[in-house]
Amino acid sequence: MTQVLCGQVLAFEGSPFDGDPTEAARLHEAVALDGGKITGVGTRAQMLELAPDAQVTDYGNRLIMAGFVDAHVHYPQTAIIASWGKRLLDWLNSYTFPEEMKFGDPDYAGMIAERYLDLVLANGTTSVCSYCTVHAQSVDAFMSAAQGRGMRAVAGKSTMNRNAPEGLCDTVASAQADNQALIDRWHGVDRLSYAITPRFSPTSTPEQLEMLGALWAANPTCLMQTHLSEQTDEVAWVKSLFPEARDYLDTYEAYGLLGPGAVYGHAIYLEPRERDRLKEVDASLVHCPTSNTFIGSGLFDMAGLMAEGQRIGLATDTGGGSSFSMLRTMAAAYEIGQLKGTPLHAAQLLWLATVGSAQSLRMDDKIGNLAPGMEADIVVLDLHATPAIAQRAERASDLWEAVFPTIMMGDDRSVHAVWVNGALATG
Ligand code: GUN
Ligand code: ZN
Repeated sequence: MTQVLCGQVLAFEGSPFDGDPTEAARLHEAVALDGGKITGVGTRAQMLELAPDAQVTDYGNRLIMAGFVDAHVHYPQTAIIASWGKRLLDWLNSYTFPEEMKFGDPDYAGMIAERYLDLVLANGTTSVCSYCTVHAQSVDAFMSAAQGRGMRAVAGKSTMNRNAPEGLCDTVASAQADNQALIDRWHGVDRLSYAITPRFSPTSTPEQLEMLGALWAANPTCLMQTHLSEQTDEVAWVKSLFPEARDYLDTYEAYGLLGPGAVYGHAIYLEPRERDRLKEVDASLVHCPTSNTFIGSGLFDMAGLMAEGQRIGLATDTGGGSSFSMLRTMAAAYEIGQLKGTPLHAAQLLWLATVGSAQSLRMDDKIGNLAPGMEADIVVLDLHATPAIAQRAERASDLWEAVFPTIMMGDDRSVHAVWVNGALATG
């Protein structure tokens, strides 16, 4: 049966990074959904003409938009989010690796996967691209949990064979067998897809990176996700481990791990050659602003990279990031823009959290916007969710001013309802 949701329905018609940001989106009165797809966007009367016996939900003046897309997360780090006082390499060794060891237990992996997806849905995020642990069963746990909720999700086993505890290392041969079995089991099943996931070049030998490059060539519809140039001492370590590499990106490029469909998290300390190559091949970069401040990594050059025409998404980087909320993540992206002297407009922030992230995952024909034929993943935001937000929003003279206090001060309290695959998931 057709559902018609009424409110302030926001749909992007272009990129707010090209020209006047306020011209990139349009407000409609209603959106119609049927069979997991958006069937129309327009006036309430138009939607009811399309489907006269539709079930109507009136969300009043709430903002109805595409569900948030979180382009880089580590679901296994859910329980260690907000761990104090370490920078990247110490943070991995002190908090992350000990926690990831627990995911050899499928019951624990399943419990955390369900907890993680409860948290992200409560925050209005309807799709994520997650790293799992080295254990194949951590992928099974995540994929099963996402499948059970009808979510579009991407995940892959973090492949490592050096510079990590023995219990988190595989080998070239076992990683090849595990990855291929996981691709065969999950890639393209329902709304799920697989990402080949070398954790980052320091934790794989050249032989393992080469095997993963060949595996990607043999499975080209998979994404390939990894980390790139997150902290200065990490970049120096990579250079010492790969003395013949021209730069950090070259440690991937040399082994077939650069191409369209490559998704690089962080990408803060890029050299000119790396920027040129990333643009040339149209690879994706993912900005993780709460992580970059929380772990003390640095300031992503959004304005410069966007001006070059790079493909960029936005992400929490749970649990290096300090929040499950894409609203909190947009706020951090705004603050980093301010520190760089280039504040982001509310339209740009909302676009990054939806269309931009979907583009970075090459899924913008399916998710991240409201238009006929797109999949029906929707968040309904209350723009007056707390007294502090409400008193500021009351002063607003247009939509962008009305939504900006929610971007800066909102969290799961601002999420009124979430629809996944055309069905009400929360609210
Ligand atoms: N680099 C390699 N592994 C990780 C991780 O788990 N989190 C972050 N933020 N960076 C990484
Ligand atoms: Zn990460």
